Amino acid sequence: TERIILDCDPGHDDALAMILAAGNPGIELIAVTTCAGNQTLAKVTRNALSVCAIAGIDVPVAAGCQGPMVRPQMVAPDIHGDSGLDGPVLPAPVRELDPRHAVDLIIDEVMAAEPGTITLVPTGPLTNIALAMNKEPRIIERVKQVVLMGGGYTRGNRTPAAEFNIIADPEAAQAVFAGAWKVVMVGLDLTHQATADAEVVERIAAIDSPLSEFVVEILKFFGKTYREHQGFDAPPVHDLCCVAWLVDPKVFTTRSAFVAVELTGTWTTGMTVTDFEFLLGQAHNTDVAVQLDKPLLWDMTVDAIAALSAQ
Ligand code: BDR
Ligand code: CA
Repeated sequence: TERIILDCDPGHDDALAMILAAGNPGIELIAVTTCAGNQTLAKVTRNALSVCAIAGIDVPVAAGCQGPMVRPQMVAPDIHGDSGLDGPVLPAPVRELDPRHAVDLIIDEVMAAEPGTITLVPTGPLTNIALAMNKEPRIIERVKQVVLMGGGYTRGNRTPAAEFNIIADPEAAQAVFAGAWKVVMVGLDLTHQATADAEVVERIAAIDSPLSEFVVEILKFFGKTYREHQGFDAPPVHDLCCVAWLVDPKVFTTRSAFVAVELTGTWTTGMTVTDFEFLLGQAHNTDVAVQLDKPLLWDMTVDAIAALSAQ
């Protein structure tokens, strides 16, 4: 089993990542931590607790950073709505928030576990992860790997060059890529292949449970904003792909590269500059996700929703 801490900003695709992590027997979800991103910290934290309530997820949830390390805050209401998780009725939280700050929860869990056993899965801006590295640098060698959703090597979505999670806190992202740990970058080149097509939504609806209805509402709202603002036929469920790869690494192929975040560009700030060759003369520091097995992704996701619906 893969033991993970999911550091997220739910967020429609973050919610799906939580559900797959909780509903797949190969993943042990140790905790959910939240970071301001798609919406303010208060909103995304409340959303995380609502997802826990509807999906029966019984793990610690801790709130983290209120905003990026250096720059003004950026949120994404155009894609995720005013609540950060618009669409479904959000159930009242049933569990209390963990009293710790997310950064302290991450440090506590990593330092208490056997070295090399905990994977960090950041699916929002990287503020919490960068601060945890700074507060307790020993986590860097103790973490098994960091499997993050962010960036891209051929495109952006917030600007032509930059993806949202990276541009929302580029200094934090750069610290994470530069850290002496294994990083897997699940960027837009991969996640834009992970669309929830009508056929997928029908399979989820057929499970016919309160949770499956919740997921269908999530995908409908996400589909609408992606159609209107990004010109997609179906919504790409980015964050889900990170967890899916930990369930089964056959879900996508990777290529090794050097990745650095542009911090001073006139038009390219937040770009994940990706060197698959050695053009920059830098050692490779990242495994970059390239090609998705989409049927495998949706099979395991449908299975997880069915499993949580049955419990
Ligand atoms: C990323 O940004 C957020 O809007 C999504 O939740 C995902 O993590 C995609 O660029
Ligand atoms: Ca996210």
